[in-house]
Amino acid sequence: MLERPRRNRKSPVIRKMLEETVLLPSHLIYPLFLVDGKAKASPIKSLPGVYRLNLDDVSKEIEICVKLGVSTFVIFPVIAEEHKNKKATYSYSSKNFYLTAIKLLKKRFPQIVLMSDVAMDPYSSDGHDGLVINGEIVNDETLPILAKMAVAQAKAGIDIVGPSDMMDGRVGYIRKELDKNNFTDVSIMSYTAKYASAFYGPFRDALDSAPKSGDKKTYQMNPSNKIEALREAALDEQEGADILMVKPALCYLDVIHLLKENSTLPIAAYNVSGEYAMIKAACANGWLNYEQVMPETLLSIKRAGADVILTYFAKDFATLFKKINS
Ligand code: PBG
Repeated sequence: MLERPRRNRKSPVIRKMLEETVLLPSHLIYPLFLVDGKAKASPIKSLPGVYRLNLDDVSKEIEICVKLGVSTFVIFPVIAEEHKNKKATYSYSSKNFYLTAIKLLKKRFPQIVLMSDVAMDPYSSDGHDGLVINGEIVNDETLPILAKMAVAQAKAGIDIVGPSDMMDGRVGYIRKELDKNNFTDVSIMSYTAKYASAFYGPFRDALDSAPKSGDKKTYQMNPSNKIEALREAALDEQEGADILMVKPALCYLDVIHLLKENSTLPIAAYNVSGEYAMIKAACANGWLNYEQVMPETLLSIKRAGADVILTYFAKDFATLFKKINS
């Protein structure tokens, strides 16, 4: 045999040298769930190891992660029922603790990158990402609300806004409003191909944000569709998105690959709550080895074409990375 591929696998150093895909802690974005007030960390049953944290605990978590090489965070607010209403007005109210927290965190950690969520669901009494009128999730009337939310977050100092709502035209609408308010440097990471997935269950438990009626299928994408992701990507590009996201990640590796091949923008993938829970559960049962399966999973997302990964594994991956490389 002239060709013996095994020669390139014969030692750890050769294998490391010839690695095609490299995943670093700096490629990861760590989602954090923020609560108002001083309540102590409360566990989320379907997301083992993830907690709803008050601002001080979020700060501590950020400090630990930064030391481990993870410096980008996406923050999701847990909103009390009394602050929810049909028009999600608390989302841009000056009294919103989420906005105060962004301001404080950016002051405490000027070097980190903070990303927000732009969608009505945590603030909406209907639990939908858009405004509900007569049982319908209306598109155009939702856009000004999303833009107000984004501008309020920009005023608080957010680095990247993350519209996760899947309304048509929202990236362009938000971009225009941000620019009008002199926030030309605030980036948009668009949830470009966000599927109507059953893997968001644990996240909705964390925020108590499940739709009060119906589902999200008239705005989130049909899991059958791939070509449509190209259409969404083209629109987000035209509308001024800086980074395109595919969500979830694991069942949609083909979509990640497709967008990477067809766009010059960086591609992000959201390794969502249900994907995390699935692996955690199997490992807790002793069926899979966490320290092996977790990095292999993240690597697969990177190899498919994701430049950055939003993942609840970020801290654990970075901890393991440090252990292996020191
Ligand atoms: C809200 C939003 C959701 C997630 C991120 N932003 C839930 C949804 O669309 O219902 C899901 C994240 C996860 O499951 O980890 N628009």
